[in-house]
Amino acid sequence: MRYIIAITFALSMMAPSLSAAPVSGEAVYKQRCAACHDSGNARIPPRDELKKLSVTHILRSLDFGEMNNIATKLRQEEREAVAAYLGVPGGNGLPAARAYCADRTVKLASRGKTEWNGWSPALTNTRYQPNDAAGLPLGQVSRLKLKWAYGFDGDIIAFSQPTVLGGHLFVGSASGLVQALSVESGCVKWVFQATGPVRSALLAVPLGDKHALLFGDSVGWFYSLEAETGRLLWKKRPEQHEATRLTGAALAYQGTVFIPVASWEESRTTNADYPCCTFRGSVVALRIKDGSQVWKTFAITEKAKQTGQNQWGPSGAGIWSAPTLDTKRGVLYVTTGDNYSAPATPMSDAVLALELATGRIAWSRQTTPGDVWNSSCSAKGDCPGPDYDYGSSVILEKLDNGRDVLLAGQKSGMVYALDPDRKGEILWQVRVGQGGTNGGVQWGMASDGQQLYAATSDVTRSLAPNADALDPRPQAVDPKTGGGLTALRIATGQKVWFAPPIVCGPAAKRGCSPAQSQAVSAIPGLIFSGSLDGHLRAYSAEEGKVLWDFDTVRDYQTVNGVRATGGSLNGPGAVVAGGMLFVNSGYARLGSIPGNVLLAFSVDGK
Ligand code: HEC
Repeated sequence: MRYIIAITFALSMMAPSLSAAPVSGEAVYKQRCAACHDSGNARIPPRDELKKLSVTHILRSLDFGEMNNIATKLRQEEREAVAAYLGVPGGNGLPAARAYCADRTVKLASRGKTEWNGWSPALTNTRYQPNDAAGLPLGQVSRLKLKWAYGFDGDIIAFSQPTVLGGHLFVGSASGLVQALSVESGCVKWVFQATGPVRSALLAVPLGDKHALLFGDSVGWFYSLEAETGRLLWKKRPEQHEATRLTGAALAYQGTVFIPVASWEESRTTNADYPCCTFRGSVVALRIKDGSQVWKTFAITEKAKQTGQNQWGPSGAGIWSAPTLDTKRGVLYVTTGDNYSAPATPMSDAVLALELATGRIAWSRQTTPGDVWNSSCSAKGDCPGPDYDYGSSVILEKLDNGRDVLLAGQKSGMVYALDPDRKGEILWQVRVGQGGTNGGVQWGMASDGQQLYAATSDVTRSLAPNADALDPRPQAVDPKTGGGLTALRIATGQKVWFAPPIVCGPAAKRGCSPAQSQAVSAIPGLIFSGSLDGHLRAYSAEEGKVLWDFDTVRDYQTVNGVRATGGSLNGPGAVVAGGMLFVNSGYARLGSIPGNVLLAFSVDGK
């Protein structure tokens, strides 16, 4: 058997050089892509979604993007052939000349009033925008209308949280194009091409008389751009592991930027030959002025060793979300994910406190011990772990009695209040969802000082056979399960209200799900929460009543002339600043709805 395979393999390797026939893109697809992209695995965009991408986008993904690891086996002509076979011709991703603003200057105030900078307006990660910066009175929310839409050319995903500074908006995209737009009209000021997809929120910090714009990409690069021009100041890999993925927004403090490091090695195990696993989550502190390293701290203290055939460990404990600043105690807090392979370690699925100056771990609080899980487990069903990562940041809040409290929401569906003065001792814990591999609490909660708002994902996939023969996905998200928004009293954990999920109607498109895994955002009196069915809703903070509802799943006439559609809302959440509301629509993962649009709303669309 082995022998025959070896010969066939040798022949197939030789074939292209023997014949002068052009490489068949379809053949490359069948040999190198179909195993994953036609597999129906909910984490992989199916072939018909790839077919909506531009040739350039697919090539970019193979040459230096998300598919780079797979493409290492492919020669350039094979890459070009498969991209041409799959993609829509053209699409260099750069905006058309008419998409640019007449005036391209970017002037940033040293501390603007109407800003939402990075993951949360406050570095305590409350995701709460006070009145003067939000500029959106409670009574006006029902009058919110679309002011403009901006399309991400050739993308099937829109997943980066915008950063708003005065009249300017900065946003990443799945193609790796970072764009600076005018808040007023959505016209383009400048663009910068990153190496990989940019999902993390961008963070602007003063640097001399200008600003540095700091962010990471999904293939492990971290960048500092001049925010005024988009010029690259420096670019570093904070972690050498090839599966590194930077999704959490960075935190900056006193000349240092703190970068949370995650990876997608967990899903590399869909390839049975992959030696799993060696990645270790970390926080890396770099000097903002030149990107040089101050310190690096791993969430797993020992390096992975070989533990069996194709087996390595310990591994995992990726850090997916933005660090939280605590200047009073001189620490930052991060949350960690599960272990990818045995042995399990004590700082996975945990909240960690790291000293700002040294990176030393002051304390850690693990809430799910022994969680070893990777993507091959769901197929084989032999993993101990429930896959209960933390995907969201810890919130630091002050109680009325003057004490501080840390609030953490986990994919398990649990919300914890921890005592920062007692090494994270649990003060209260409350369940807000059943929990699962895609949350529970997924990407982020918000807090207004009195109440904490936790959205529930609890997305489930229906295993019913697909009636549509042309749809390569054998399973889709369940249109009836998941969702809901819970308000908890911060002091006690007591439930104040629960806004039940609004399930998909009978006419809803395939991929519809009421799950609310998107990060929640808050302004005085209002909570914004999006769902996988593409609805963005504003809830009253007082009683959880829906005061405004916009279905983002539709086609848009965009200001940059790109054909765009909305899709699932997931990942980073809505942003409110200067009387406007911004959200990216189209987080096409897990069998949900693709899209490629950035939406800007204002009162009466003015
Ligand atoms: C081992 C499995 C695997 C193989 C083989 C594979 N892919 Fe993928 N591909 C994935 C996964 C997983 C994703 C989604 C990545 C993510 O989570 O963002 C993806 C995403 C993509 C995307 C979208 C990424 C983007 O930049 O928007 C493109 C394009 C793509 N693959 C093209 C290809 C092509 C072309 C081939 C064959 C040459 C291929 N893939 C082979 C697993 C695979």
